[in-house]
Amino acid sequence: MTNMISNEAARDILRSNDRGGYTVPNGRVYPFQWNWDSAFVAIGFDTFDHDRAWQEVETLFSAQWEDGFVPHIIFWQEDEGYFPGPTVWDTKRNPVTSGITQPPVAASMIYILWENAKARGEGDIFKPRMVALFDQLLAWHRWFRDHRDPDKRGVVVAMHPWETGRDNSPEWDAPGEPIDISNVGEYVRRDTGHLDAKMRPTKLEYDRYLALVQYGHAQGWDHAKIAAGNPFKVADVGMSMMLLRANRDLLLLAQDLGRDAEAEEIAAMVATAEAGIDWLWDEQKHAWCSRDLISGKSSGYITSASFLSFYAGLSDPAKDAAMLTHFARIGSKVEYLMPSLDPDDPGFQMIRYWRGPVWAVVNFMIGKGLAEMGYDAEADRMRRDTLALIERNGFYEAFSPIDGTGSGGDDFSWTAAIWLALNEA
Ligand code: DGY
Repeated sequence: MTNMISNEAARDILRSNDRGGYTVPNGRVYPFQWNWDSAFVAIGFDTFDHDRAWQEVETLFSAQWEDGFVPHIIFWQEDEGYFPGPTVWDTKRNPVTSGITQPPVAASMIYILWENAKARGEGDIFKPRMVALFDQLLAWHRWFRDHRDPDKRGVVVAMHPWETGRDNSPEWDAPGEPIDISNVGEYVRRDTGHLDAKMRPTKLEYDRYLALVQYGHAQGWDHAKIAAGNPFKVADVGMSMMLLRANRDLLLLAQDLGRDAEAEEIAAMVATAEAGIDWLWDEQKHAWCSRDLISGKSSGYITSASFLSFYAGLSDPAKDAAMLTHFARIGSKVEYLMPSLDPDDPGFQMIRYWRGPVWAVVNFMIGKGLAEMGYDAEADRMRRDTLALIERNGFYEAFSPIDGTGSGGDDFSWTAAIWLALNEA
């Protein structure tokens, strides 16, 4: 499907959310640079402005810390419209950043930029930029290995629901209960000033988010200290699948760039994950689920992230068949795949953020994985549903899987980017 008018509209969104070297997800709700948003935005820009695509991720990595960590928000300029802003995080960096990270999709999106450049015959032109980014990506992936996988299973342990990018997924409810919210104090949310509160996390969830920010701040944003004592530690199935995929893509980059020693190191990270990620298989649910590191319990929730196993390159006939059965069941219940929470779950809410709505970026990854694994009918449905949602409703942050109603912010950068990537690839 191509739609010239909408392609131009999508380009306009990226241009108008461009703040000079980085793109805000949405000018009012999210007025800074966000980590995984920028990675997806880059593949959108790459359909019409190659230099700007690379610049998006270069700007992101220019805020990398010395230990390899890449923050989830970079506060390049002041904006009163967002809470918690730079003074709350107080990471003592220039520019100020948050102290938590986000799903590691950058290597996979940069791999797409690199493949596109080579296909255009511009590999030589972009190679110096690729080499510089390769080292930064590897440093970040080492950071995950060294700070976020204490039992060496090749999974990613999130220290904050915001790190997962799927902020209010019910997977974080039980693991969030031990978080002490008694000292959070008074604060004024800005998100509910921009958007209907029905689309956003609850006050209890926000209290927990802030208590964890205060905890990290009290540790001086020292990631080793946070990893040791944080009251919230959940092996996120989404981040774990995305990192496994990102390591596979980084390995291809290492081979392409002739970085043999690094290739061996990255292959070891892939092997660790291939051997250890089964820990996230829930035998009762017959599905990939997040697991609480502290209690050892599986969340038992089937979410859109559960379907990223294909994207991660995992292939086990019994598990794939079980996931495809869930796919068919969920697909028969909703107009548009893939809801962020199983619609058969009593907690499903069609417009509340990550408790039901469909997100174009997750759909993009699920569809890509299914196509690569040869599940063509399912891959086609993912692509059709994603394009139909956007075409009928606009470039919203997310959408109701039941009737397509837009949820969250409009003119959303990553939704525009995925539209372009799907239409112009
Ligand atoms: C928010 O503020 O809602 C963001 O998702 C945090 O990253």
